[in-house]
Amino acid sequence: MSLTIQNPILMPGANLIGAEWSAAADGRTLNVCDPATDEVFAIVPDSGAADARHAVDVAHAAFATWKKVPAKQRAQIVKRWNDLVVAHVEDLGRLISREQGKPLAEGKGEVMYAASYIEWFAEEATRADGDVIAAPVPGRRMFALREPVGVIAAITPWNFPAAMIARKIAPALAAGCTVVCKPAEDTPLTSLALVKLAEQAGVPPGVLNIVTASRERAAEVVDVWLDDPRVRKMTFTGSTPVGKHLARRSADTLKKLSLELGGNAPFIVFDDADLDAAVEGLMAAKFRNGGQTCVCPNRIFVQDKVHDAFVEKLAARVSALVVAPATDSAAQIGPMINARAVDKIERHVNDAVSRGARVVAGGKRIKSDRCPGPNYYAPTVLVDVDATMECSCEETFGPVAPVTRFSTEAEVVATANATPFGLAAYFYSNDVKRIWRLADALESGIVGINEGAIAAEAAPFGGIKDSGYGREGSRYGLEEYMHIKYVCQGQLD
Ligand code: SIN
Repeated sequence: MSLTIQNPILMPGANLIGAEWSAAADGRTLNVCDPATDEVFAIVPDSGAADARHAVDVAHAAFATWKKVPAKQRAQIVKRWNDLVVAHVEDLGRLISREQGKPLAEGKGEVMYAASYIEWFAEEATRADGDVIAAPVPGRRMFALREPVGVIAAITPWNFPAAMIARKIAPALAAGCTVVCKPAEDTPLTSLALVKLAEQAGVPPGVLNIVTASRERAAEVVDVWLDDPRVRKMTFTGSTPVGKHLARRSADTLKKLSLELGGNAPFIVFDDADLDAAVEGLMAAKFRNGGQTCVCPNRIFVQDKVHDAFVEKLAARVSALVVAPATDSAAQIGPMINARAVDKIERHVNDAVSRGARVVAGGKRIKSDRCPGPNYYAPTVLVDVDATMECSCEETFGPVAPVTRFSTEAEVVATANATPFGLAAYFYSNDVKRIWRLADALESGIVGINEGAIAAEAAPFGGIKDSGYGREGSRYGLEEYMHIKYVCQGQLD
């Protein structure tokens, strides 16, 4: 199976600033590698401060006109963007799989997932109504109007190169904001392709600008945006330390922030659960994208009575997963994004085993004829895991399912909440009273009950505690890009 792109316009290999697709101002370049082989297969600009400043200049100038474009017209442009993304699902899926490593079926699935957010926000654009407020005194009319915040900066991660940028840019455009964005250094190509399609859909020059940059130069770009008071909002998906840095550094310009940060999701299976459904839910939630997902279960708690049966079923399913490059049509788990990612997975598994955990599936790197590259790790199940192990304390971000046995509901709720993070939590139970007790008690922005696939464009996605704040998707996702202006007219009697 080939991952060759049929339509070469989807690989512009350049920044878009205003109407110009261009190299970095100083000509520096960034190599894009295939995680299946670590070989370089594309080159994009390695942008710096001058490019970042230029992007804000044009985005700021474009805001004056874009904010006045009627919502219906903005909606039509965003809808055309959605249609073009869907029409290019094959090529975009290949691009995602090539630069990120996920199997092609997942790459194409991600394109449709990204499109679902674009379509959703095209529709929401026309519903950003304000309110008429009942005046407390005679002779007044009072209104709450919604306005776009201005220029927004979007910084996106490598794990979902299409979906994460789509669910930031689409609401921004729909709300009437203009955009400067920087995709992750590992996966810039999909973002460039999406921006190309947005341009074709009729997004006017200057409204959507993108610069690519290496890990080494990313801070140079982002610092310009942090310091510039014309950038009124920053939206970021990535690690908690970086999110906290952005919050601190944006204080001087008091930017609005959306931070979708790390998670450490619990997945709890009670004695009264449907075990087969719980195993399937865990497979979907844990092994999607090779476990490289912020909402992946990172700590799996199984109640005494069903522990052994659950582990047996889980180990059988996990051992049967096909690990292969995205070019292999049977692939279910691809390579990890890079060597650092595999090193971290290995460190977590070794740490757990050295402290008494047992491996019941996987537990090692893979190097074989089918997977000759350096970045493969076998899908893994660990048992006898405890709260002190590294895999319980921080996101592994890989295909490792660490299982811990528990006895009581009170004990598992306390353990599940004993983390600074609060992005997603899952549990399986058929006891209706327990279901609502747990839904209330779990400290997370998202709760999946008897369901492992929780993300959807109509749902508010985001965390609490160290997992950040702000919501993406849903009607709440549009509000993140708008502020309220209160207008009061007096002397009316
Ligand atoms: C993420 O990993 O941050 C996003 C996952 C999703 O959209 O389900």
